[in-house]
Amino acid sequence: MRFASPLAWGLQWRSPLQTSISLLEERFGPGKDAITARAPGRVNLIGEHTDYNGGYVLPFAIDRFASVALRPRTDRRMRIYAAAFDKTFEASLPLDSPSPSGAWSDYPVGILLELEKRANLSFGFDGVITGNVPLGAGLSSSASFEVALALSLSKLYGIELEDCELVRLCQRAENEFVGTQSGIMDQYASLLARDRSAILLDTASLEHRYIPLDLSDMTLLVINSGVQRELASSGYNDRRRECQEALRWLQERLPERRLRSLSDLSPDDLRQHEQTMPEILTMRARHVIEENARVLEMVNALEHHDRTTAGKLLFASHASLRDLFQVSTEELDFLIDWGRDNGALGARLVGGGFGGATLHLISKGCAAQYAEQITAAYHKAFGLTATTIEVRPSPGAKELEIRGT
Ligand code: GLA
Repeated sequence: MRFASPLAWGLQWRSPLQTSISLLEERFGPGKDAITARAPGRVNLIGEHTDYNGGYVLPFAIDRFASVALRPRTDRRMRIYAAAFDKTFEASLPLDSPSPSGAWSDYPVGILLELEKRANLSFGFDGVITGNVPLGAGLSSSASFEVALALSLSKLYGIELEDCELVRLCQRAENEFVGTQSGIMDQYASLLARDRSAILLDTASLEHRYIPLDLSDMTLLVINSGVQRELASSGYNDRRRECQEALRWLQERLPERRLRSLSDLSPDDLRQHEQTMPEILTMRARHVIEENARVLEMVNALEHHDRTTAGKLLFASHASLRDLFQVSTEELDFLIDWGRDNGALGARLVGGGFGGATLHLISKGCAAQYAEQITAAYHKAFGLTATTIEVRPSPGAKELEIRGT
């Protein structure tokens, strides 16, 4: 998804839902009550690049959303306006074997193609999408977009979807039509996250449990490097391929273990093979095994309110993403190193990497000064403007729907 200014993405002075509803009238004229849905972006506390390796992740939703408002039409035309890009996409249903264009409209088209597999979409619609999740920052603007679209369109067409079906449908739209081989974490968190908690998800079994995230004496700051990142064209798909290669290599040598993913490996398994395994593959596999262990240690640290350990785990995760998984950048490393030298309890890049944002765990009461100093230092070093958001665990789309907000 291309980068646009947050102002264009979500007209900031109104809630994104209200904005979508008003824009729907402005763009397409008055009509019946709109069908709406909104879905949040997420921050992944820890467990990066483990979700497509059958591992653990620990994300939470943030109070930034994509919001969709829709109204049915009597013909088969569909028109959808995206405020972020000030563009309208139009087509007729059923979609006629479309090809991806590389633009934002691939998301609605991908979701509609998935819905068309389940039901006859016998009428068209007018729709508007707005939001305030920063785009291309590793905060899952894409997943928030997909989940809000899937929720609103399934309501419009009366298609019943279980939670996991909806999550998988969004992931398939992204994998098969948009062209990013993303895992399942972002869509899962956007739909199922809960207020004041992180969600510990085992991506092999798709079982989850909520872990209270008490921020009474800590603050979580997201610092966006402002360096754009596009997952489909970044090294993300390469990393995914390398992990598959590492798995295949090990499966051939350990057939009795029936490995389903890199997360089935123990550190010992890797030690036994690291002399002969290609170095890059060993590095990728080691990151996955150790990152999984860090997620479980983080859960333990949160349950014991051990801020020091939580912070160390964040730094360790970043080091591994930088050195073993090689998805960091000079700018992201600068922000993390600055944090370490200036009193952060912990910090790491968030999301897929190759640009985007960093997460900083700092003591309560220091946020304003920390944000001011780090953005000044960053500007001095790179001539770039970093933006800062204080984040706290917020409800996912399902909790928002239940609350009717
Ligand atoms: C992106 C993907 C996720 C996950 C992260 C890295 O956000 O969409 O599925 O793989 O990168 O942890």
